[in-house]
Amino acid sequence: MTQADNNVLLRITNLQKNFGGLQVTNNVSLDMRAGIVTTLVGPNGAGKTTLFNLITGHLVPTGGDILWKGKSIVGQAHWKIARQGIARSFQDLRLFNQMTVEENVLTVMEPVSWIWQPGGRAGRKARQERVMDILTRTHLLDKAKTRAIDLSYAERKFLSLARIMATDAKMWLLDEPASGLDRGSYERFLELLRSEVRQGVTVCIIEHNLDIVIGISDRIAFLDQGKLLADGDPDTVLKDPHLAAIYFGEQTT
Ligand SMILES: Nc1ncnc2c1ncn2[C@@H]1O[C@H](COP(=O)(O)OP(=O)(O)OP(=O)(O)O)[C@@H](O)[C@H]1O
Ligand SMILES: [Mg+2]
Repeated sequence: MTQADNNVLLRITNLQKNFGGLQVTNNVSLDMRAGIVTTLVGPNGAGKTTLFNLITGHLVPTGGDILWKGKSIVGQAHWKIARQGIARSFQDLRLFNQMTVEENVLTVMEPVSWIWQPGGRAGRKARQERVMDILTRTHLLDKAKTRAIDLSYAERKFLSLARIMATDAKMWLLDEPASGLDRGSYERFLELLRSEVRQGVTVCIIEHNLDIVIGISDRIAFLDQGKLLADGDPDTVLKDPHLAAIYFGEQTT
């Protein structure tokens, strides 16, 4: 990586993914710079979630490379990639339904020493304070002891964000985190995301809601049939009539 590329956290080069004869990622190259919110948009089936799966190691690319802070992460187990500071949410949330909100958050945090070990008491107290802070910021504090299955849809979405916050990851990949939220909830979601970005988190978000896309993006990457058709500032990409025709012409949800 050259000097000028120092702030590139994640570099994707000529990425390919085939499922049998189906090419779902077609020669995609994309840089994600520190502190920048990139929104991935494109019609259903464009390959957005697949791109996340390739970055996080849930899928192995057929070709190309993915560099995290200058080093290839292709072929590494997904938990190893996560440990390096790339966290993600899933379209289907994947919470532990029978656990409480608090327990769901604790499962993604580093274990702390037992209380009788040196620093154990202080470590536990600090972790508890951190959980409370995260739950406050995700508006879930009064639900700390509620089981995930008993939460409303919006609360479940916020819990999946809380679990990402708890990892302390520097890069967040969010797969439609605001889909299905009412206006009040997604305003709160945007506020939270902006505040995390101000504190140094780098975000790539897949989103269909144009209000959210406009409200959060520094840059938009447009995918269609596995190909990156555009990558630029939101105004330019959103005003492109060719892309609008593809997006609105083919969207089914
Ligand atoms: N494991 C798989 N095996 C075969 N085909 C797959 C697999 N995963 C995804 N695909 C196909 O790859 C294409 C891209 O799917 P992907 O889920 O990445 O799209 P997407 O852009 O996230 O769509 P949506 O907006 O509906 O979530 C689709 O045609 C899908 O059917
Ligand atoms: Mg998807």
